[in-house]
Amino acid sequence: MFDFELLKESKKTEARLTKITTSHGSIETPIFMPVGTQATVKAMSSRELKEINSQIILANTYHLYLRPGDELIKKAGGLHDFMSWDLPILTDSGGFQVFSLSDMREIKEEGVYFRSHLDGSKHFISPEKSMQIQKNLGSDIVMAFDECPPYPAEKSYVEKSLNRTLRWAERSKKEMENSEQALFGIIQGGVYPELRKKSVKEMTKLNFPGYSIGGVSVGEPKEEIYKILDYTTPIMPKDKPRYLMGVGTPEDLLEGVYYGIDMFDCVMPTRIARHGQVFTAEGRLTVRNATYAEDFNPLDPDCDCYVCQNYSRAYIRHLIKRNEILGVRLTSYHNLYFMLKFSEKIRKAIKEDSFLDFREEFYQKYKLK
Ligand code: GUN
Ligand code: ZN
Repeated sequence: MFDFELLKESKKTEARLTKITTSHGSIETPIFMPVGTQATVKAMSSRELKEINSQIILANTYHLYLRPGDELIKKAGGLHDFMSWDLPILTDSGGFQVFSLSDMREIKEEGVYFRSHLDGSKHFISPEKSMQIQKNLGSDIVMAFDECPPYPAEKSYVEKSLNRTLRWAERSKKEMENSEQALFGIIQGGVYPELRKKSVKEMTKLNFPGYSIGGVSVGEPKEEIYKILDYTTPIMPKDKPRYLMGVGTPEDLLEGVYYGIDMFDCVMPTRIARHGQVFTAEGRLTVRNATYAEDFNPLDPDCDCYVCQNYSRAYIRHLIKRNEILGVRLTSYHNLYFMLKFSEKIRKAIKEDSFLDFREEFYQKYKLK
């Protein structure tokens, strides 16, 4: 079961308001998806994720295949039952992690041979294998198996890789035939406009229910990402969801939405939380710093989350300095709340035709790092 509705298009930008329906319910976009790589959004229970209005979360094929194993998760009744999350789940295909994490990988036409980054054991993931793993996980949205080339990379290599990713997308689609799960195609092409265009043209011929833009946030300057979006989203189908992979700071959301992106994911909000850093309406703040030792204000005075309603910077700093586990739970909770509330404010602004003003106001207050 999968359905997409384009609810509204912004007049002056590419921003859009959409509704995506899956077997586990609907989501409204633009939306930030919390990352739960190991079948857990780090430090957050399902009850807390719901409390902050998470609509959909992400999990990773590569990690769950290695540990605890997709067969085990299948025995548990799938990922939803295993982790007690009954709303939508999107799984990435492993086509990124295998390149960023594994050792000694060898890319062949049939798939990727690699050694686990955990114990050096030998493995092989092909498009078919990635789909079988994602079937066992039982996610609502499944990603095609792709190669994400590094940055920088020669145009000739990116082209060769892109052509293989297209063939892998076809094989992914074949393996997912007759499945209830919705398979998204991944647009690659690096920083080369001609290759991105070719990727869109060929990928859309396969008629996937949604498309993502991959191969960004791999070390290129931010401006490059926005340039890629500027020439890529306008040629993507209007009547399908658009997901920008691995990108999702507050400013990335604003720019992504501006260029027509609907879905985002990023480990950054939870990762910086574990290092004692939080989002506020004025920019990022390192609550771990000595400056906040006697600051009895909330993390973000503009935030109405449970943490900001109940705890001070001084208390949270103390917890983090003492390595008390509650400290990073509270910063993780607040940062995810911040991103989800921010997505909600973006949707409201699009609804009210005030997205450009909202974007302007944000930048006036928020100091970029
Ligand atoms: N996550 C971030 N970028 C990518 C990408 O290019 N491909 C996949 N599969 N996942 C990603
Ligand atoms: Zn808060």
